Amino acid sequence: MSPASTPTALRPLPEPVVPGQAVSALAPMQDVTDLPFMRLLAKYGVPDYYFTEFFRVHSHSTLERHILESVTDHGTGRPVFAQLIGEELDHMERAARELQRYPIAGVDLNMGCPAPKIYKKCVGGGLLRDVAKVDALLGRLRESCEGRFSVKMRLGFEEPDNYDAILGLIEKHRVDLLSVHGRTVKQMYRGEVDYNLIRHARERVPCPVLANGNVTSALRGQEVLQQTGCFGVMIGRSAIRNPWIFRQFRELQSGQALFLPLLRDVRQYVDDLWEALARPGLEDRFRLNRMKKFLNFIGQGVDPDGAFLKDMRRATEVAAFFGVCDRYLIQGALGAQRFATEPFPGVEARPNRGD
Ligand SMILES: Cc1cc2nc3c(=O)[nH]c(=O)nc-3n(C[C@H](O)[C@H](O)[C@H](O)COP(=O)(O)O)c2cc1C
Repeated sequence: MSPASTPTALRPLPEPVVPGQAVSALAPMQDVTDLPFMRLLAKYGVPDYYFTEFFRVHSHSTLERHILESVTDHGTGRPVFAQLIGEELDHMERAARELQRYPIAGVDLNMGCPAPKIYKKCVGGGLLRDVAKVDALLGRLRESCEGRFSVKMRLGFEEPDNYDAILGLIEKHRVDLLSVHGRTVKQMYRGEVDYNLIRHARERVPCPVLANGNVTSALRGQEVLQQTGCFGVMIGRSAIRNPWIFRQFRELQSGQALFLPLLRDVRQYVDDLWEALARPGLEDRFRLNRMKKFLNFIGQGVDPDGAFLKDMRRATEVAAFFGVCDRYLIQGALGAQRFATEPFPGVEARPNRGD
């Protein structure tokens, strides 16, 4: 029997775009990392791995068609891990088995979602309060997955008090890849990310670990890798702000000059996003609202006072909205200015949805 087929062996992970480099993965983001956004990112600088938005699993759930399309139709050539959120063992097994009929890189379990309506049902981040439940769920999913089984988790619910016990279960159930968002559920997206505890996971579990939380630039990604010793980084909100980030991370690792976008490149990205958000029958005002959700992040790199964000949020008509984009991104000589590599301090994104 080869080591790869023994029951205890971990499954090898897909190669990154540049073999031998540290991996950069796009974090799963509900209502963001859908098929059009995945394709758009591939144009700007493809991540090594994709993760889908979560499939909700309960007694009468079916796999959501639009998320499945992001697995089957992305055409980027990169591996896609499909994320599940739920807690009922039989239904989680059913969903995991069904998913494996599609070309996924692995089944990923969400153990981090901090939305109260989710964690109150003991799913997502709520699972972190119940070690026995996590044991049962990881065991069942491991049995149900012939291929890779990965987990994305936070440090704990209120405190990282169950962290070590859960890391022990990650080892026990031979999870193939672990992503750690270095905050507790109660922290939501605020406060410091504890990279030392991410490092602890890397030392504690046998599988590769992706470090997640506030990787705001390629340079920051490299610092986080040094601090945690992880196999790679997972990037969420900063990939919305800066879709070139995965390309830059590869350039940095290979010692090449980094592509540094100008404000006119950002203006083009805004147009591409607008196209990507088109849906048959979708009224402009709804498309504009979704657009603003993305621009919330992009605006963090446009001007240090957040004036673009303020004006962009006020625009209620499509023409006015694009007028604001022109005014801050290409008017006069602005187009030739650099887009900030890091978000400006104090310029808040105020997203309207969380994980
Ligand atoms: C709008 C939004 C939606 C998210 N949806 C999910 C999700 O479906 N599943 C998940 O595991 N995490 C989700 N997250 C959390 C991210 O995957 C990531 O852990 C978090 O944003 C921290 O990484 P970052 O600082 O690079 O953004 C979401 C985050 C945001 C901002």
